[in-house]
Amino acid sequence: MTAQLNPRGDVAVLVPAAGAGVRLGPGAPKALRPLAGEPLLVHAVRRIAAAPSVHTIVIAAPAAEVDFVRRLLAPVAPVTVVPGGAERQASVAAALAAVPTGPQIVLVHDAARALTPPALVESVAEAVRSGHDAVIPVLPVVDTIKEVDAGERVLGTVDRSALRAVQTPQGFRRSVLAAAHDAAGDPLTDDAGLVEKQGLPVVCVPGSELALKITRPFDLALAEHLLTLDS
Ligand code: CTP
Ligand code: MG
Repeated sequence: MTAQLNPRGDVAVLVPAAGAGVRLGPGAPKALRPLAGEPLLVHAVRRIAAAPSVHTIVIAAPAAEVDFVRRLLAPVAPVTVVPGGAERQASVAAALAAVPTGPQIVLVHDAARALTPPALVESVAEAVRSGHDAVIPVLPVVDTIKEVDAGERVLGTVDRSALRAVQTPQGFRRSVLAAAHDAAGDPLTDDAGLVEKQGLPVVCVPGSELALKITRPFDLALAEHLLTLDS
């Protein structure tokens, strides 16, 4: 039996949370590192669970921490927890395999984007509901971007007006995501990339600065500060 949030919801959210967090420095797996006294994963799941369309949440946890994560999240929201894989893509595939029949919209959302507002979960889901097979939240790129060679010599300046920085949650019609994962080859860093490889259209919706990916110690410090503004 899979635990449910809103039984009338049409959205399953997969949460890859099995990464080590190497770029954050030594310590526990990233999803379990504290942010304002609570693990990143708790912050992330609380916000996902607050989105009214969400029927099911499936977490891909570090294999050694599956039982710990079940106990950790029991008071936060009803979730299913499965062991993740060696690559993000394998973790997403493991979570996808655990989605119960029912939800026809599947969102994939990094645990590391712990402060993502529920409204972004809803807006991505709504864009899929309205007929798009694959939807990604994006922000414009603010820095000037240079292409360089192996010796850090500048080859040229890229036209940034045509570039977007991509966040999660990424949303998909369930059958489209399942087919893309079935056909997946070398691991990619996002799921929309798998859909692009299938030759299918992916559309953008506005992202959120609060959906930043906590990657380096600076990001964790920034997230701590953002939480103090959020109360
Ligand atoms: N992830 C996962 N399984 C993996 C690798 C990553 O579920 N084998 C998850 C992470 O837990 C994270 C998301 O994918 O929520 C985005 O990955 P990233 O930010 O790169 O996190 P880590 O891989 O943990 O960090 P690092 O690359 O610095 O080790
Ligand atoms: Mg990683």
